Amino acid sequence: MAAPKYTGKIEWPTKIELGRGLEGAITNETKIGYVDGEKGWLVYRGYNIFDLAEHSSFEETSYLLLFGKLPKDDELSDFKKKLVGYRKVPEVVIDVLKSIPKEVHPMSALRTGVSVLGCFDRKAEEITPKNDTEIGIKLISQMATIAGAIGRIRKGEPPIEPDPELDHSANFLYMMNGEKPDDFSAKVMDVSLILHADHGMNASTFTCMVVNSSLTDLYSSVCAGICSLKGPLHGGANERALAFLLKLKDEENAVRYVKDCVSQKKKIMGFGHRVYKAYDPRAKVLGQYSQKVTEMKGMGHLYKIAKKVEEEVIAAYGEKGIFPNVDFYSGTIYYAMGIDVLMFTPIFAVSRVSGWVARVLEYLPENRIFRPRAVYVGPLEERYIPIDKR
Ligand SMILES: CC(C)(COP(=O)(O)OP(=O)(O)OC[C@H]1O[C@@H](n2cnc3c(N)ncnc32)[C@H](O)[C@@H]1OP(=O)(O)O)[C@@H](O)C(=O)NCCC(=O)NCCS
Repeated sequence: MAAPKYTGKIEWPTKIELGRGLEGAITNETKIGYVDGEKGWLVYRGYNIFDLAEHSSFEETSYLLLFGKLPKDDELSDFKKKLVGYRKVPEVVIDVLKSIPKEVHPMSALRTGVSVLGCFDRKAEEITPKNDTEIGIKLISQMATIAGAIGRIRKGEPPIEPDPELDHSANFLYMMNGEKPDDFSAKVMDVSLILHADHGMNASTFTCMVVNSSLTDLYSSVCAGICSLKGPLHGGANERALAFLLKLKDEENAVRYVKDCVSQKKKIMGFGHRVYKAYDPRAKVLGQYSQKVTEMKGMGHLYKIAKKVEEEVIAAYGEKGIFPNVDFYSGTIYYAMGIDVLMFTPIFAVSRVSGWVARVLEYLPENRIFRPRAVYVGPLEERYIPIDKR
């Protein structure tokens, strides 16, 4: 897919109107990423997402997000070596993951794993840009190891040692599935990790920044990001989107499902976005991969049903700016690749940790604690009544 050119001046509103959920609020200036919801643009450090999805790798994109430029050959190979060097986590982390009930949501296990990881880093409390950068790189590497181990433990299988010969995405798939992936599957996972790595001031990124702005340690901030990403209105939407798609037997069923949702004013998972009022560019790329992967794995019907749902939702709500978001097609891809549905959100976290870390590091040198206010609409003149008189 040829990368479209994004050109023109970025216009920010001169007068800000605040809506519920802090809609319209501006947190800070950033050079990391830009989302234009009207045009359907997503940019990391000046590079448009189509270009990165086609040509970059997750490691290179993470470097770009963290350090603000595409790495030279030696810089990329040093960065990759560092990521590989950090892959193994202390055995105690795996022991704790094994002791968690298997039925627990893997995002809760991931949150716990990262928390334990922080407890075993003696430099966790050294809050300097240099040390936090190192911890950030460690976290980008080790989140994949922890998520991979969670995927295995959930299936009653032993966690797998990372393979230093494999790139980040291929190794992640290997640690999760226990088999070295073919090149195409590794590429698909890599593209997905690139596409999910950063996305403006979304709930989990904002959460990380708020928590980190108190100058706590980076492990705590990333744990908070994981907690926020877990919810069904954020990262958890991909599980729900796939769940309803799997219940639809054919395209006719898909049409009926959307019509019922519309008439009952029920939200359709994987559609709509606070910022995008045009087609989410990530969904564009993932839609194409979904078609290829599902056909390759003999599940072409799943893509056809998803496509039908998309057409029906756009017919009903397109004018309102409701289109597929990143979560709509990602689930079909992971499912076709044989990945357990509950692992979808941890995959999102394995990617988004790059954006979380990059944004926290950018804010750190000029840190100011986040402290908005709420509009108090309660009473003022109540007087205390002793408990026996109430
Ligand atoms: C992403 C999301 C939370 C954004 O929420 P938001 O900016 O607060 O938007 P709202 O929930 O206020 O929705 C605005 C309007 O669009 C409608 N809408 C939003 N998403 C919709 C969806 N997925 N299906 C149907 N209608 C939807 C709402 O019903 C509302 O309609 P109204 O103005 O007639 O009341 C919301 O679109 C959603 O819940 N989507 C489904 C979950 C999902 O896919 N999340 C992943 C996001 S990447």
